[in-house]
Amino acid sequence: KLMGSSSPVFPSPPSANLTQDDLKKLAAYKAVEYVGSNMVIGLGTGSTAKHAVDRIGELLRQGKLKNIIGIPTSKKTHEQAFSLGIPLSDLDSNPAVDIAIDGADEVDPYLNLVKGRGGSLLREKMIEGACKKFIVIVDESKLVEHLGGSGLAMPVEIVPFCWKFTAERLRKLFKDSGCSAELRTCPEKNGEPFLTDNGNYIINLYFKKDLGDLKAASDAILRLPGVVEHGMFLDMATTLITAGQLGVTVKNK
Ligand code: 5RP
Repeated sequence: KLMGSSSPVFPSPPSANLTQDDLKKLAAYKAVEYVGSNMVIGLGTGSTAKHAVDRIGELLRQGKLKNIIGIPTSKKTHEQAFSLGIPLSDLDSNPAVDIAIDGADEVDPYLNLVKGRGGSLLREKMIEGACKKFIVIVDESKLVEHLGGSGLAMPVEIVPFCWKFTAERLRKLFKDSGCSAELRTCPEKNGEPFLTDNGNYIINLYFKKDLGDLKAASDAILRLPGVVEHGMFLDMATTLITAGQLGVTVKNK
């Protein structure tokens, strides 16, 4: 169903009943096999990408990777990578990124993604849009037929100024898809708005129906003043690594 080549790889097959976290780790470790010495590497954010960053740190410590530079996609990943001794930089100093490895919330059959349920979509999109090879790592629960089809949130980063106005405009944009729009909040901070690393808010969009033309939806969202970025990553991923109970699969676009 997916475009491009498909080859089952490591391990074949894994022992049954792996946890979701085991699967995330398998996908992450497979992706790190594509990382070599002297590379500039986009370091993703989230529980799957965390395993990849740990693995890169481990290979560096063992001397199996040398002279790499990591470009973290969030403050959290920066902290993790820094604590592992990974040399870090940013796009200003290193605009040409060789490879990026990151998780996703949804992946459709054409390798279009929803990302940003961890709230780091803007930096992720900037860094992953600047790399030659963008490897997405997921466990099989992230595969969907249509983006927005999981019933979970599609995040949109917006400026805090008059956020209710922007949220309502977003909802109206997709009223034919049964859209609802909610401000993301932090239950652990008495329901205060969630703040991105850039000091912005996130509006979670939920759809009852398929979004249809994704490019048109993307363009329409980005045309709204107040919107900074959205979590649809269209035509960006070059490789998908999926881990399931039957093994790890690599698909290239
Ligand atoms: C963060 C992201 C994450 O990659 C995405 O939410 C997947 O996270 P996880 O690997 O924890 O399931 O886009 O902004």
